[in-house]
Amino acid sequence: MPIRKLTTTVLFGVIVWMVFGLGPEANSPKKVRKQVFGKTSRGETVELYRLTNSKGMEATIITYGGIIVALKVPDRNGKAGDVALGFDSLEGYLKGHPYFGAIIGRYGNRIGKGRFSLNGVEYTLARNDGDNHLHGGIKGFDKVVWKSKQSTGQGGPALELFYLSKDGEEGYPGNLSVTVTYTLTEANELRIDYQATTDKDTVVNLTNHSYFNLAGQGEGDILRHRVMINADRFTPIDSGLIPTGELRSVDGTPFDFRQPCAVGERIGVDDQQLEFGKGYDHNFVLNGSVGTLRLAGRVSEPASGRVMEVLTTEPGVQFYSGNFLDGTLRGKGDKVYQRRYGFCLETQHFPDSPNKPAFPSVVLKPGARYQTTTIYRFLIASKE
Ligand code: BGC
Repeated sequence: MPIRKLTTTVLFGVIVWMVFGLGPEANSPKKVRKQVFGKTSRGETVELYRLTNSKGMEATIITYGGIIVALKVPDRNGKAGDVALGFDSLEGYLKGHPYFGAIIGRYGNRIGKGRFSLNGVEYTLARNDGDNHLHGGIKGFDKVVWKSKQSTGQGGPALELFYLSKDGEEGYPGNLSVTVTYTLTEANELRIDYQATTDKDTVVNLTNHSYFNLAGQGEGDILRHRVMINADRFTPIDSGLIPTGELRSVDGTPFDFRQPCAVGERIGVDDQQLEFGKGYDHNFVLNGSVGTLRLAGRVSEPASGRVMEVLTTEPGVQFYSGNFLDGTLRGKGDKVYQRRYGFCLETQHFPDSPNKPAFPSVVLKPGARYQTTTIYRFLIASKE
C-alpha cells in the first residue's frame, strides 16, 4: 500500500475511534460526578453523586439517608426515564416522607411493641408506627448524613457510604459501624452491598426503601405492573402488620406470585391479609438458600417494556404496593404521588425477628461481619 494511502487509512481509523467511542473513555462515561445538594437544618452539607454507565443508565444518590433520588433507565426505545419516586431538592426529603429511596436501619420493617430481649436484657425502642417500631425509629439511618467516598469498583462506578450508629442510638445496643456500597454495573444493575460490625451483641436488618414505577415516576399507578416473586410462602400479619409467626403457603391465595401476575388483578379481592395490609404490604419467604445471591422477583411494565429483576442474599422481601401514598406529596417535576403510584421490594430479614425465635436470626455479635447483597437489574422485555 502506498504510504499516503496508509496514512489516510490510519487517520480515518483514529477519527472513527474517537468519534464513535471505541476508545476507553469515549461513549462509555462510566463515572461518578459529585455536587452539593444542600444543607440540613444542623448545617451539615449533603452531597449528591451521579453514577453513570455506558448503557444509558444513571443512579443519583445523596449522602442524606443514602437516598437514591433518581434512577434513569432506558425503555424499549432506548429513551431514559426516571423510575424512582423522590424530590427535586433536599427540602422535600427534610420535610418528611415515607422513606423514598432511603437506606433503612438499624432494623428495617417492624418490631412489635417496640421492644425485644437479647441475652436476658430488655431493650425499648421508639414506637413510631402505632404501637410498633418501624424502620429504625424516629431518626433512623434514612435521616442521617453518611460519610462518602467514590470509587470504581470492579463492576463499575461506585459510591461507598459510612455511618457509625452509636451504642444506645434509638434504643439499640452496641456501636454499629455500617458501610453501604452502591455500584452501577455495565449490565444495568444497581448493586447494593451492606456490611456492618458491632462491639456488643445487637440486631441488624438493613435494606433500601426505593419506590419504583417502571412507567416513569409520577406516571400513574403500578396496578398494571406484572410481578413475579420467587416465594412459596409468606409471613401473614396481624392488624398492626406484625407477623403472626406462621410461614403460610401462597398456594391458592392472592399472594401466589410464582407466575407473573398484574398487581391490580387480585389486590381488591376479599382477603383478610389484604385488608390488614390495605393491599400488599407483606414479607415473602424467598426460595433458595439464604446467603446465596438468587432471584427474588421480577417486575415488568408493559407500556415501557422495562423489566426490573431483584436478586438478593437475604431470606425475605417485603412487597409493598404503595398503599399509604395518598396524593399529599408532590415529587419530582411537580408530580403528585397518588395511592399506589409506586411499589417497593425491600429485601430483608423477616419483620419482628427479634421477637420470633423461629425466624432466621438477626443477631450480630462482636467479631462477626454482617454482609448482604441486593441487586436491582434493569432489562427490556423480549417481544412476545
Ligand atoms: C412498610 C409499610 C409502610 C412503608 C412506609 C413499608 O416498608 O411495610 O407498611 O407504610 O414502608 O413507611
